[in-house]
Amino acid sequence: MKIGLLTAGGDCPGLNAVIRGVVLKGDRIYDHEFVGIKDGFRGLVEDIVSPLPRQRVRGLSKVGGTILGTSRVSPITNGGTERVKEVMARHEIDALVTIGGEGTLTVARMFADDGIPVVGVPKTIDNDLSATDRTFGFDTAVSIATESIDRLRTTGEAHGRCMVVEVMGRNVGWIALHAGIASGAHAILIPEVPVSREQVCEWAQQAQDRGRAPVVVVAEGFTFAGDGTQVGSDRTDEFGRKLLGGIGEQITRLVEERTGIETRNTTLGHLQRGGVPSSYDRVLATRFGTAAVDAVSAKKWGTMVALQGIDIVNVNLRDATSALKTVPRDQWDEAAILFG
Ligand code: F6P
Repeated sequence: MKIGLLTAGGDCPGLNAVIRGVVLKGDRIYDHEFVGIKDGFRGLVEDIVSPLPRQRVRGLSKVGGTILGTSRVSPITNGGTERVKEVMARHEIDALVTIGGEGTLTVARMFADDGIPVVGVPKTIDNDLSATDRTFGFDTAVSIATESIDRLRTTGEAHGRCMVVEVMGRNVGWIALHAGIASGAHAILIPEVPVSREQVCEWAQQAQDRGRAPVVVVAEGFTFAGDGTQVGSDRTDEFGRKLLGGIGEQITRLVEERTGIETRNTTLGHLQRGGVPSSYDRVLATRFGTAAVDAVSAKKWGTMVALQGIDIVNVNLRDATSALKTVPRDQWDEAAILFG
């Protein structure tokens, strides 16, 4: 079989390890041939396809980013599935492996519904995909955020300041929750649990009163209780483009004004997505890659590889894209007992 690989949406540590896993197992066990599709779905509609022999994936499991490039171009509004079928036919591509988050996998599901042979691989640092216990990239992002918060704490303590740290997570708070617990934050604010301004200031004050430098970790999609508008995820600029971030700055001003504690904000941004994947993410991504090529070989079209417990399984793309996996309230409650 000739198989086309693409990575779409935001990048994520571990993408290259998936590519390597697919190509090495596909070459060694099934004798498949591979082509790389450049920049996600853009390469598929603009016909940018090149051979992907096993020599191109050598040593890739530890390399960040994606050798195929990525974009958020949608094929649905750029020629649709007819165009995709045309490009696949021109290159004699029998099947696709699409590696991406919710948007990419939703497109893959539409492809499958339209008769395009496709298998999905879930990726996102946000860990918000249903039907898989974990996505690769999350472990790396949490480690980077935790190390950053540890560093911010020591400078906060030196100056007696409150340190606010904004992490990624426009819809869910998994990174904030895990990095916040790991670093012993005095407040963790996530989109799933709106909290009042008064409560945030009270937690900062309590930590300060005990002689600690308060540390507040906030996910970019967090909203204060009672606020009608989304501050993190729904804000747009004058061109209608989505504005991410900004909530960390707001909390910084709030805490400083209401408590008098000198406060600083750090927005970690894309640092959380860059650099080498953790060993956990390399292993998960490699397992996803080898399982994806098994699924292609078994013609399990319209499915996605997923982690359930310690096993890699195949699930229907429909189940994987039906709803986001949010942080359950009781997990946040467990963490909140230690706030302040
Ligand atoms: O990959 C998901 C995510 O990391 C979100 O947490 C964040 O809001 C978004 O990507 C940022 O995307 P971009 O790279 O397009 O700015």
